[in-house]
Amino acid sequence: MEERTEDERFRLGLQSLLLRPDALEAAEPWLWQELESGARDRSHPWFLASLSTVAKDECGDLVPSSRTVVLRGADTVTRTLDFYTDYRSSKMCSLLSEGLSGSVCWLFYRHGTQGQLRVDGRYEVLRGEAIDSHWCDTPDASKGLYATIDPPGATLQDVSGGQADADLANARENFCVVRTFVKRMDLVWLDSSGNRRLQVDYTADASHGSVGWLVP
Ligand SMILES: Cc1cc2nc3c(=O)[nH]c(=O)nc-3n(C[C@H](O)[C@H](O)[C@H](O)COP(=O)(O)O)c2cc1C
Repeated sequence: MEERTEDERFRLGLQSLLLRPDALEAAEPWLWQELESGARDRSHPWFLASLSTVAKDECGDLVPSSRTVVLRGADTVTRTLDFYTDYRSSKMCSLLSEGLSGSVCWLFYRHGTQGQLRVDGRYEVLRGEAIDSHWCDTPDASKGLYATIDPPGATLQDVSGGQADADLANARENFCVVRTFVKRMDLVWLDSSGNRRLQVDYTADASHGSVGWLVP
């Protein structure tokens, strides 16, 4: 019920944004305001995203992979998005590989909003003191997720989830923050009155981003 109300609020906000005469000026601040809300509010349609990376497989082929992550931080000043992960997880192999793209792609979409946002950018992996505040703000139950003896993706003999032998002392070491420095945002809205697509490109205009309509 809560989600439906939030989807409705979001959908109406998106609709009125894209129909206003000054939509191009209003879009970029609106997107960041919603991303910041998404990082604070579990019921927001952008609290969860699909995060895509590219890695080389054993044949040397580039293979994309996607997974759901929680949007943990969005900063309109630095234009960054954060997610938390286990440093030992498979996605880190692609994020830490030299010579690959150095970029990730976020996809925000929830059925009921009719709006899709794709965001791409370069990233940085944060560890150590830089993430003290993130670790302190993480609830104990979530800290436990980083405490498994075996890394995420390791084979198990039972359904324990690997938590049975968890070692909390190592959890802090396994925890990291991946920060994306946004280069482009691509917003698509589907509506019977006419679909709309808008792009914000910070590579063309670093100060405010160049904003324009695209063929949906
Ligand atoms: C609702 C939901 C939220 C998730 N949030 C995160 C997250 O914030 N960080 C994370 O590393 N994995 C998260 N996961 C798990 C990932 O989707 C993925 O299964 C896991 O990280 C292993 O991915 P990898 O093998 O590509 O590294 C989440 C899964 C679900 C279903």
